[in-house]
Amino acid sequence: MFPHVESFYDPSTGTVSHIVYAGYGAQCAVIDPVLDFDAASGRTSTHSLERLIAFVEERRLEVQWILETHAHADHLSGASALKRRVGGKIGIGRSIVDVRSMFSATFDLTGEHGFDHLFAPDEVFAIGTLQAQVLATPGHTPADVAFMIEDALFVGDTLFMPDVGTARCDFPGGNARLLYASIRRLLALPKAMRVFVCHDYPPHGREARFWTTVGEQRKFNVHVRDGICESDFVERRMARDSTLKMPVLLFPAMQVNLRGGRLPAPDANGLRYLKTPIDDMRFAQKLP
Ligand SMILES: [Fe+2]
Repeated sequence: MFPHVESFYDPSTGTVSHIVYAGYGAQCAVIDPVLDFDAASGRTSTHSLERLIAFVEERRLEVQWILETHAHADHLSGASALKRRVGGKIGIGRSIVDVRSMFSATFDLTGEHGFDHLFAPDEVFAIGTLQAQVLATPGHTPADVAFMIEDALFVGDTLFMPDVGTARCDFPGGNARLLYASIRRLLALPKAMRVFVCHDYPPHGREARFWTTVGEQRKFNVHVRDGICESDFVERRMARDSTLKMPVLLFPAMQVNLRGGRLPAPDANGLRYLKTPIDDMRFAQKLP
């Protein structure tokens, strides 16, 4: 079966959300929805989510799953806000508990994690009549997973489009060697399999694109095409990562995304706050 995939691009964070479904009126999965957030004003909005919700309503879809490929550091998850509007179970790889414990020294992440289902590696599940499988893909973070839904593979932040390459591995718990192994596992899948990315950062002059194939990745990916060995990849990845700053939304994103997309509880004055740790040396190493 070849599921329909509708992709939605958020130009402000470069994030691509996807809706996967068998046909009109079917059950569907929404992958990596975005909650808009303006850091300067502290304002959230569901502008991006409204496009997804309109599509779900227009196709008469029933949201069965809201899937997260990982705890994104570049945007706030729209999972919780989406669930409130259209229902569905929020699912993520079970290693997310390890990421939570890494960040709980910095942020108060005690209490419920906010996800409805933690997927085991290789877990098989259904989206209506579609067969889906979780593939653990650690490297970018320890808790990354890909979702293989029939012939469509949602790779999260492992692979980007072939001319962009791969995701960074310098967040806490990131590991370039693990990412290489995870990617080789994905690229061992059939060449015709469609590969849907979670981000696109199009080089100058190219329009944003959201999918490619395993075969194209093996032939053209600038970081991991066939013939590039692990040590060459790791050397190049680490050299590149050493030049990257921390993402602007890292701290807000961790405080929301590690709660299944829920905002922190309000203070006594009724307002919600996101914290910025000062001189937390685990992050300060990226400063100039
Ligand atoms: Fe990411």
